[in-house]
Amino acid sequence: MVTKLRKVGLLNLIFLLMLLAACEEGVSPVQKENKESENERVIDHEDKLKIGFSMDTLEEERWPRDREFFKEAVESLGAEVVIREAKGDDALQIVQAETLISEGVDLLVIVPHNAEAVATIINKAHSAGIKVISYDRLVKNSSVDLYISFDNELVGELQAQAITKLVPKGKYAYIGGANTDNNAHLLKKGVFNVLQPFIDRGDIQIVYDQWTENWTPENAHANMEAALAINHNEIDAVIAANDGTAGGVIKALEAQGLAEKIPVAGQDADLAAAQRIVQGTQALTIYKPIKTLAYEAARAAIKMAKGETITTNRKMNNGKLEIPSLLLAPIAVDKNNMDDTIIADGFHLREEVYGK
Ligand code: BGC
Repeated sequence: MVTKLRKVGLLNLIFLLMLLAACEEGVSPVQKENKESENERVIDHEDKLKIGFSMDTLEEERWPRDREFFKEAVESLGAEVVIREAKGDDALQIVQAETLISEGVDLLVIVPHNAEAVATIINKAHSAGIKVISYDRLVKNSSVDLYISFDNELVGELQAQAITKLVPKGKYAYIGGANTDNNAHLLKKGVFNVLQPFIDRGDIQIVYDQWTENWTPENAHANMEAALAINHNEIDAVIAANDGTAGGVIKALEAQGLAEKIPVAGQDADLAAAQRIVQGTQALTIYKPIKTLAYEAARAAIKMAKGETITTNRKMNNGKLEIPSLLLAPIAVDKNNMDDTIIADGFHLREEVYGK
């Protein structure tokens, strides 16, 4: 009996010693596991939030600004950002976004090249528990969590309001953006909201109306050459979807000796466009303060990554859902308010615009 008791005592002692050996600084394995996961949580909490930014292109003058301001904004809010540029390639944009997701970004911000093609990314991000913000361009037919942009329909309306003041009657050419970009459709809608009553009255005729593949100035130039040829140069006004395409249009007008004679509208406040405006070959641009967009997007990204709610001001239908949206106000700029807007904001320097 005594031997038996001694045996049990010995076994208990061995068990106790094994337990102590497995313990670190008097902490049991179970406690140790809890402590480790607590540490992990603490580390997670202390780790910087990581925001992924998937960009279509850096081609137009505005996009490097978007990239720099977004980076600056995210970093100023104490988070880090990983940026990828897809060079206008849908397949590459999808692969890059997938990589950002697998690298563990806390939130994904995307400027889609093709509004429809990247919808698949949203599902993948959601499966990984990551929310997605559509930046400047809306991702169509998807459950994207937030859309943040300028009011693109209003951009088109402002262009058409300004041009119809200059040319209330006559033949109009519309040089659209890329058919694959939802913004191109919103801009066109805005333009025709304003033009339609003029068209209905018979004051304005649309003598040319084309999309510009990939928004390139070269394609816009070819479009404008075609518009002039088909209409034997009888065109009174041109609305181009951005300043890059307006540049292509003006080059085609110059070749026919028509620059300065035919008003052209663009958007983006590119430096070349601001220069053309003060020189007289472009009538107006639409200025969109990119810094505000980038900072708003960065603030929203960090809030959403932390699970906080965002204040929005609109809902935009993307073909599947009404997407909560934050739309900022664009500003029409011609030679009369150039100094008070683009230059006053420091978007371009006065000497860059006027060349003196
Ligand atoms: C943007 C414009 C830009 C164009 C071409 C549009 O979606 O809103 O600002 O000029 O894309 O990149």
